[in-house]
Amino acid sequence: MTEKPALRGIENATEQAAAWSAAWQGWTPQDILAQGLADLGERVALASSFGAEDMVLIDMLYRLQPTARVFTLDTGRLPYETYDLLATVQKRYPELRLRVMYPDTAAVEEMVQTQGINLFYESVENRKRCCYVRKVEPLGRALADLDGWITGLRRDQTANRGTMAVVEADTDKQSQRPIFKFNPLLEWTWEQVWDYLKTHGVPYNALHDRGYPSIGCAPCTRAVAPDEDPRAGRWWWEQDNQECGLHVTADGRLVRAKG
Ligand code: ADX
Ligand code: SF4
Repeated sequence: MTEKPALRGIENATEQAAAWSAAWQGWTPQDILAQGLADLGERVALASSFGAEDMVLIDMLYRLQPTARVFTLDTGRLPYETYDLLATVQKRYPELRLRVMYPDTAAVEEMVQTQGINLFYESVENRKRCCYVRKVEPLGRALADLDGWITGLRRDQTANRGTMAVVEADTDKQSQRPIFKFNPLLEWTWEQVWDYLKTHGVPYNALHDRGYPSIGCAPCTRAVAPDEDPRAGRWWWEQDNQECGLHVTADGRLVRAKG
């Protein structure tokens, strides 16, 4: 491993993220996770939707530190298969500190009563409102006591994601406080993800075997044909259906480090 960069003030988050990204070039995901845990300790957690990438990271984290922190955003609209996998993870990785975040009940009730349960099919604005209420606002609460979060983002998932860095300076959507975002699998291919899962016998979402490479909420995800873009099944009825708000700034830009 290269020398550990000293943690500077949070106001230098962008600079610090760029320094880490440069120093960690060519590191394995395990080395990145180990260093992230060493530097941020209790104040870093994995964000997991239990997709293939997140299962790799859960397994790697557990081998490094069984009591590592993980959170998932249960939107209330997830596929049954995802809940089954969540239950499997709770049993297979018993020491993991897995926190399941829920949307604000009053906000969901108000939204459903005024705009209907499936409002997201009616307009992009409605879809973004639902994603905000069910995912982005709970994400803010999940990040409240963290200085960093770990994601399963990979560079080749979308054109947008091609420009990302291993460590980025992100902003906690609620407090606007800067926070680090670690993307240890950034350079991994889909094949490497599956090779890891199979080699280590890691459980995965049953929908992957039914044509779902990318899995979100049940009403907003469909299977894709082998020749389709892997993310074509997410918000498939929209023209530009690539991001839901978890990984973009308030003005719609993808979060990324400067330089
Ligand atoms: S999304 O923005 O389109 O929904 P995607 O499904 O590609 O995201 O997942 C990218 C990463 O975002 C995941 O690897 C995970 O780190 C995080 N993520 C996505 N959905 C959730 C969720 N429901 N709970 C926790 N983390 C999530
Ligand atoms: Fe709502 Fe669909 Fe977004 Fe899930 S993905 S929060 S159901 S709009």
